[in-house]
Amino acid sequence: MNNEQWGTRAGFILAAVGSAIGLGNIWRFPYVAYENGGGAFLVPYLFALLTAGIPILILEFGIGKKGGGSAPLSWRNLNQKWEWMGWFQVLISFVIITYYSVIIAWALSYTKLSLNLEWGDDTKGFLFGDFLGVTDGVWNMGGLQTHLILPLVIVWSIVFITLYKGIKSGIERVSKFVMPLLIFLFLIITFRGLSLEGAAMGLNHFFTPDWSKVWHYKTWIAAYGQIFFSLSIGYAIMITYASYLPKKSDVNNSAFITALGNSGFELLAGITVFSILGFMAFENNVNISEVAAGGIGLAFVVFPKVINTLPAFNNLFGFLFFGCLVLAGITSAISIMEVVVAAIRDKFNLTRERAVVWVTAVSFSVSLLYATGAGLYFLDIVDHFINSFGILLSGLIQLILFGWFYKLRDIREAGNATSDFRIGAWWEIILKFITPSILLFIYAQNLIGAFREPYEDYPISALLTLGAGSVLLVMAIAWFFTRLSWKHSKSLNKKGVA
Ligand code: PHE
Repeated sequence: MNNEQWGTRAGFILAAVGSAIGLGNIWRFPYVAYENGGGAFLVPYLFALLTAGIPILILEFGIGKKGGGSAPLSWRNLNQKWEWMGWFQVLISFVIITYYSVIIAWALSYTKLSLNLEWGDDTKGFLFGDFLGVTDGVWNMGGLQTHLILPLVIVWSIVFITLYKGIKSGIERVSKFVMPLLIFLFLIITFRGLSLEGAAMGLNHFFTPDWSKVWHYKTWIAAYGQIFFSLSIGYAIMITYASYLPKKSDVNNSAFITALGNSGFELLAGITVFSILGFMAFENNVNISEVAAGGIGLAFVVFPKVINTLPAFNNLFGFLFFGCLVLAGITSAISIMEVVVAAIRDKFNLTRERAVVWVTAVSFSVSLLYATGAGLYFLDIVDHFINSFGILLSGLIQLILFGWFYKLRDIREAGNATSDFRIGAWWEIILKFITPSILLFIYAQNLIGAFREPYEDYPISALLTLGAGSVLLVMAIAWFFTRLSWKHSKSLNKKGVA
């Protein structure tokens, strides 16, 4: 049992929702849905939510609650040979936090830039030129973009202070404040978006189903990818957060609430983004497809353009939009860092405070790499590989181990015993047969794709070192940490059976 605990159930759920709702909801979902069949995307999306999202969330809550600690400790407590998996997940989270923090820092900068619309008319030129100073190739690192350091330090300070204060007075307090604020501010953007001319046309494009896409396997891969990233599953976040639950807590209902809250926000973001894109298309008299974008392009190129074009209150709108990105991102960043902090704390028997200091120092230093002129390239490659190969693999191994080498039923019964409602044997069938088969298929497709068509136009050397290299390095370091001996943590179960 962990010493620290959540103060209230709402606090735990808000923290879990805070982790789930992040940049992925705002800039990833709308575009992924639009590209993959619009309204028709809801079919594979809901299927992925029901077969992977919710069941895995329940599983991770169960692992954390039963395992009683950070990911490596929980895995080890459930089976002595499984510690490596915990470290694998921890290190994936570590890799992600090093660039996720940088994106939040960009958003923070843009929040300030929006006050004077400092990006000018050529928003793309501004982003890649003045702002990021992107070099001509991956292997040309350029210099550190010094103006990015201050926002990055601010982001890290917020994460640091929150984690330093611990679960109840840190993460729980911040989530209880940030999540309602985020939803309130985002709704203002939604209403403004819906009131703009062209909004209806945008929504039409977003929702019009293209059923032919449903028959394409790529649509399904996109749906599963979105669910994993967006719900933060496979990263051991939910394992770590659940380890702070009091013994009698519900897990089943909390998992449903978290998943539905996340999907609800995702849908809201889709409506908001596409009503605004509709306005943009209307103003420029072009087709939606010409203004639609996802990711960095949407947030830092298209949106600044939209903000320039708005009839009134441009700066306020810009401030709200980028402010929302920061708020959504920060609670996710906190959750990823907590995975690493808890693991280091448990393994080396450190106090929370010391673990936070060490982990922040290392993560901050690594994050500076992404603040160089080649940072955007690094980010793009590492993100692609870690998500298509690392996370998916983590999810797959997790299901195989728990489905086939552990009595899943035990976890289900333990959860049922304390939950608002019970879940049936369907849960085991899904986790044992259905979802692993689908993930295996996706993994194979991703591998074949990687060989057939190397990612973007990057040199192979960069894809091998930064891309495949980061995944392999994560595995190797996980092995190294597993080999180190435990420094007598109280919660370590010597027999490896919880
Ligand atoms: N779920 C977050 C989002 O949608 C991202 C995230 C991924 C957070 C992995 C933590 C871990 O943006």
